[in-house]
Amino acid sequence: TPLLSTHDLGQSIHFHDSLPSTNEAAFRLAADGAEHGEVVITEQQTAGKGRRGRAWASPHGLNLYFSAILRPELPPQRAPELTLVAAVALAEALREADAEALIKWPNDVQIGGRKVAGILTELSAEPERVHFVVLGIGVNLNAGPEHFPPEVATTATSLSQALGRRVNRALFTASLWGRLEEWLDLHLEVGFDPVRQRWKELSATLRQEVLVRTGGSELRGVAEDIDTSGALLVRTAGGTLERVLAGDVEQLRP
Ligand code: BTN
Repeated sequence: TPLLSTHDLGQSIHFHDSLPSTNEAAFRLAADGAEHGEVVITEQQTAGKGRRGRAWASPHGLNLYFSAILRPELPPQRAPELTLVAAVALAEALREADAEALIKWPNDVQIGGRKVAGILTELSAEPERVHFVVLGIGVNLNAGPEHFPPEVATTATSLSQALGRRVNRALFTASLWGRLEEWLDLHLEVGFDPVRQRWKELSATLRQEVLVRTGGSELRGVAEDIDTSGALLVRTAGGTLERVLAGDVEQLRP
C-alpha cells in the first residue's frame, strides 16, 4: 500500500533543497495557477516566516517545512478557520507518534509547554471569493537544542527531543498530510463545529489563567472557550467576557 493516503494533498510535490520560504514560493505558484493540493517542500529555509513578522528557524535536513496550496469553497471571512483545522491535524499526527501534543491558542502546537510546530496561513482573496490559501506548516522533528537560536532555545522543542529517538520524516509527513486532508474535507462538508469540538479537546489554553497581548493592550483572565469563529473568550477579574481575535497568549499558572 502507498505511504500517502490522500487524494489531492501532496500528490503533486515541488521539492527543493533550499528556499527562502515555502510560503512565498507557494504563493507565487498559486498566483500562476497551481492546483488545489499542490505542496512546496524544502530541506531548509533561509528566510522562514513566522506569525507577526517573526522568523522561523529552519535548519537543513532535520525538520519539516511545507506549504500547501488550497482552493477551498469558503467565504474569505471563514479562511482563518483553516488554521485551526491544521492545528488539530498537527496535534493528532504528533499524538499518533506518541507525543502528548496540545494546542496553545490560536495555533501553536506544543509538547510539554514548548512549541514544536507552527502554522502560517496566507490568503489571496476578493471580498466575495477566495482565490487561494497558502497553508504553511513547520514541524520541529529532529532538531536539537543546538539548532535553535538562543532566544527560542528555552521555549522550543522537537518531536525527537520529546521522544528521545530519531523521527522518520517521510512517515510523519505522510501521516500528517493524511489527517490534514481528512480534517479539511470534513470542514468543507460539515462546517467548523466538529473542528471546534476537537480543538477544544486538544487545547492547552482553555480553563487556564492567561495574559493576552493584542497590539498595544493586555488582557488578564481565564480562557473559557473559543467561539464559532475561533476567537478566544476570556473571563476577566471584573466578570466580563472579552473576545480576542488575534494575539499572543502567556499562560500564567500552567
Ligand atoms: C508561527 O509563527 O508559529 C508560524 C510558523 C510557520 C512556519 C512555516 S515553515 C513552512 C512555511 N514557510 C514559512 O516561511 N513559514 C511556514
